[in-house]
Amino acid sequence: MLKGTFNYTPPAALAGSARDYRYPRGADLQGRIEGFYKWQNLRRQHGLWPFSRSTDESPATVIAARDDAGGRFRGVNFASEDYLNLGSHPALKQVAHEVIDQFGLHSAGSAAMLGATAHSVQLERTIADFLGAAEAILFPTGWAAAYGAVKGLVRPTDHVLLDVLTHASLKEGAAAATNNVYLFRHNSLEDCRGWLQKIRSKDPQNGILVATESLFSMDSDTPDLRAMQALCDEFNATLLVDVAHDLGALGPGGHGALGAQGMVGKVDLVMGSFSKTFGANGGFVACRSREVKEYLRFFAPTCAHSSALSPIQAATVMRAFEIVASPEGDALREQLMGAVESLRRQLTDAGFEVYGEPSGVVCVKVGLEGLARLIARRLPDAGLIANLVEFPAVPKNQARLRLQVMANHSEENVRDAVAALKTAYAAGCEEFDWLGSEREKLRVNG
Ligand SMILES: Cc1ncc(COP(=O)(O)O)c(C=O)c1O
Repeated sequence: MLKGTFNYTPPAALAGSARDYRYPRGADLQGRIEGFYKWQNLRRQHGLWPFSRSTDESPATVIAARDDAGGRFRGVNFASEDYLNLGSHPALKQVAHEVIDQFGLHSAGSAAMLGATAHSVQLERTIADFLGAAEAILFPTGWAAAYGAVKGLVRPTDHVLLDVLTHASLKEGAAAATNNVYLFRHNSLEDCRGWLQKIRSKDPQNGILVATESLFSMDSDTPDLRAMQALCDEFNATLLVDVAHDLGALGPGGHGALGAQGMVGKVDLVMGSFSKTFGANGGFVACRSREVKEYLRFFAPTCAHSSALSPIQAATVMRAFEIVASPEGDALREQLMGAVESLRRQLTDAGFEVYGEPSGVVCVKVGLEGLARLIARRLPDAGLIANLVEFPAVPKNQARLRLQVMANHSEENVRDAVAALKTAYAAGCEEFDWLGSEREKLRVNG
C-alpha cells in the first residue's frame, strides 16, 4: 500500500518540458530565465521533480537518497551508473589511498602543460592497447572527450553527421564547431548514406565527421559498426564511436559492441567515459595516429584548457582496466548480464515493455510525459530509485523509466524493483485517468 497521497495536481505540472526554456528572449540574461524555475518549482511542490537527487553513501543496491527539497527516502537503487560496481571495489579504493599519499589530490594543471602524471601516461597507453589503437588521450570527463574531439577536429566549413540519438556532448561539440550539422535516422545506414551522398556531391573539399554510439544510452541498441566504418571510408568521412555504456561492461573481454562485431582497432576514433564502468570520472579518445593525439591535446579545448584527470582518477581507472581484462572482469560481466536478463524477463512478465537489447540500460516504456511524471512520483514510496527520462532527453511522448543494472543486483533487488514499479505504475495510471476525466468534466461544464 502506498503511503504517499498527493493533493490535486495542476495540469501545468504535467505539461511542458525543459525545451520550452532553452531559448528565452529578452535583454536581461538573468531575468529572462525565471520561467524555468517557476515551472520546475511547480513540479517540485507537487513531488514531480525527480531530478538533482543526492545520496549520503556509495551507490549500493539499496540506499537512502534525498530529493532536491531535502526529503529523504530509501529504496532499491537502479539509478546509479556503476555497471561492474568498480566504484567501490576494495582494490580501487586501496589504489586511491596509496596515490593520495604519493601524489596528493589533484593534477594541478592541464595535460598540455604539467598536469599529466605517471599514472595518466600509463593509462593512455593501456587504453590504446586495450582498443587496438595507436594512441589514446585522456579528458577530464566523457563529456569533455566527446565535445573536445568534435570541436578539436571540425572546422566551420566541415560537416558533422550524427545519429539523431547521440549524446548531448557530441551534439554540443558539433554545434560549437560548425553550422553544417545533420542528424540521420536512428541506426539507419540508409539515411546516413543518403546524407553522405548529398554532402559529398556538393562539397568534395571539406571534412565530414560521422558520430554514433556503440550502445545507445536510452534505447539500448547498437548500430552495425562495420558497415558504418565502410560507409565512412567510401565517402572519405571519419567515424567516431561513443563507447561510454558498453566498454568494460559488455562484450568479449569487456570490448563491448566493438569486440562483439570484430571491430576492435578498426574504427577511426573511439571515445569513451570512465564514469559508467571504470569507477571514476574521466574520458578518453583513442585514435589511429600520434598526429591526431597531439593535435587534440592542443586543439581540443576541453583538454588544452582544462585541468587533467587527477592522479587518483588515473590510477584507479588503470586498476579498473586490469580488472575488466581479467577473469574477475568476465565473472562480473556474467553477473551483470544475469541480473539484466532477470530484470528484463520479470518486467516483461509483469506486462511492461522494455527497449532494445540486454545491457546495463533497461528502459521501461511509458509514453506520455504527464503519465510518466505521475508514475515517477510514486516510485520512492513504493521503494524504487530509478530515473525518469523525458523530452528533450528522448523524443516527445517517449518518456520512460530508466533502470541501470549493476553486477551485484540480487534476485531480491530485481523482484523488489519490479514489484515497486507495478505498484507505482498502477497508481500513476489511475491518477492520470482520474485527472483526465476531471479535466473533461470541467471542459463539458464550461
Ligand atoms: C553516451 C554518453 N556519452 C558521453 C557521456 C558523458 O560522460 P561523462 O559522464 O563521463 O561526462 C555520457 C554520460 O552521460 C553518455 O551517456
